[in-house]
Amino acid sequence: FFQRQSWKPLAGRRALVTSGPTHEPIDPVRLIANRSSGKQGHAIARALAELGAEVTLVSGPVTLPPPIGVTTVAVETAREMLAACQRVQMAETAPLDIAVFAAAVADWGVDGSAPQKLKKTPGAPPPAIHLVPNPDILATIAQSATLRPALVVGFAAETEQVIDHARAKLARKGCDWICANDVSPASGTFGGDSNTIHLVHHEGVESWPTLDKTAVARRLADRIATRFSPVTA
Ligand code: CTP
Ligand code: CA
Repeated sequence: FFQRQSWKPLAGRRALVTSGPTHEPIDPVRLIANRSSGKQGHAIARALAELGAEVTLVSGPVTLPPPIGVTTVAVETAREMLAACQRVQMAETAPLDIAVFAAAVADWGVDGSAPQKLKKTPGAPPPAIHLVPNPDILATIAQSATLRPALVVGFAAETEQVIDHARAKLARKGCDWICANDVSPASGTFGGDSNTIHLVHHEGVESWPTLDKTAVARRLADRIATRFSPVTA
């Protein structure tokens, strides 16, 4: 598979990719999760590796196999995902070159998840679930003072005002690019194998045709490669 392209424009570059959902436990057998197959994030990790990057994929629970040529770290919760990303970020003295946040992170975790399975008590009301905000992984990594990756890319699934919402996220989170994904019913792509991406950055918007997730990943990896001049040994 490394032969997709014998030219490796990202050789010597280090990349972090997040993928999949996070699972937030209610008790040992129940959880709150986001819907995500991990297909897009896993394809991006693989596409960056195909261009020669040294890629670490931090993935929530998915049924996909770990991509070939990529170091994969499996996590469950948003807090574990942040901790794993920070370990990758701090593993070496030089900052990461590239970080792509494709995970569908649960915005809230369960406050004080129960250590034992919650039991039904006849006649008693159902248990209340108290939610607490999860850390924003993208924002935390993008805003790290000394170790900010050179290129930070986020995703945003939106159903309306796609580009305006993406611009707001770009500013709020401090990333360089947002892959805004039109998931309105009219786009016909939600939950499927293709995505309609508008790449939003500080200089403007690049609107891509609807592509399958592997093609989106390759196009994004190629686009990232144009931002880096090759590292010569
Ligand atoms: N993200 C993250 N950590 C979170 C929430 C989101 O890293 N706790 C990342 C996602 O991986 C994605 C980007 O932030 O790259 C945008 O996620 P999204 O859910 O669209 O944005 P939110 O800021 O959570 O806003 P909202 O869900 O209210 O639209
Ligand atoms: Ca969210």
